[in-house]
Amino acid sequence: MSAPDQVAGDPTRPVLQVVGLRKSYDGRHYALDGVDLDVYAGEVVAVLGPSGSGKSTLVRCIDQLESIEGGAMYLDGELLGYEKHRDHIRPLTDADIARQRRRMSMVFQQFNLFPHWTVLRNITEAPIKVHGVPPAEARARAMELLGRVGLADKARAHPRQLSGGQQQRVAIARAVATQPRILLFDEPTSSLDPELVDEVLQVMKSLAESGMTMIVVTHELEFARDVADRCIFMADGVVIEDRPSADFFSDPRSTRLQGFLKRATENRAREVEA
Ligand SMILES: Nc1ncnc2c1ncn2[C@@H]1O[C@H](COP(=O)(O)OP(=O)(O)O)[C@@H](O)[C@H]1O
Ligand SMILES: [Mg+2]
Repeated sequence: MSAPDQVAGDPTRPVLQVVGLRKSYDGRHYALDGVDLDVYAGEVVAVLGPSGSGKSTLVRCIDQLESIEGGAMYLDGELLGYEKHRDHIRPLTDADIARQRRRMSMVFQQFNLFPHWTVLRNITEAPIKVHGVPPAEARARAMELLGRVGLADKARAHPRQLSGGQQQRVAIARAVATQPRILLFDEPTSSLDPELVDEVLQVMKSLAESGMTMIVVTHELEFARDVADRCIFMADGVVIEDRPSADFFSDPRSTRLQGFLKRATENRAREVEA
């Protein structure tokens, strides 16, 4: 484990480190019960597991949308959410937490675009207002990103005029526009009609190929196998397996993961037949 005061940009140090993370919503049951996870620059890590296993809680804790009960997280070696003060640890101020959160982006299942803003403004707002990017530069960058997600002609449209798949691609462009150190996805295709899933996965794949560091909570097993470098399997708030993607699927070690993959494959076969 590296100290929080190490210099940034060290390739041997993970972009994100999660150490012994614990989270409880009610003080009795732990939604996360000691999670360790290292993510290195350019890595894509898929998070799989049954419903209720703690996948959303994990990415929400990393993005500091939730308080934590134990453990620690580091972004580029910097302790998240807390600081050392004399001989103890104290919570950071809201302003310092906001500063740390600017260095990551999250893509949610429900897009969360602002309905009254154009696509362009949805993408440029944070770079201009939060990151201090000059408006002309932010707009040029947004147009380039819209081109990359295949929506250059939708800059002036409003979210309601777009399909779910198009809205999610805008949400991804918005997440990338702030040049985050890491991009977090929480089931980005789960609310989409089946025929719109692939266009979003394609955009995520091209982002992965461009070297973006990503954590992707997903049920899309093919995407996890083909695009992710590593897959982690969670159950009951703990990481049961953390393996290179090929091994994860071809040689699952735990009976829980074996059962999960078997059921997922059977469900998939049933869908294809239907
Ligand atoms: N806001 C919340 N309040 C109380 N319990 C929650 C909340 N969010 C999640 N939980 C509980 O935490 C556990 C993990 O949930 P979650 O992280 O949403 O799992 P997953 O994303 O893998 O389906 C579950 O037992 C769930 O019921
Ligand atoms: Mg979830």
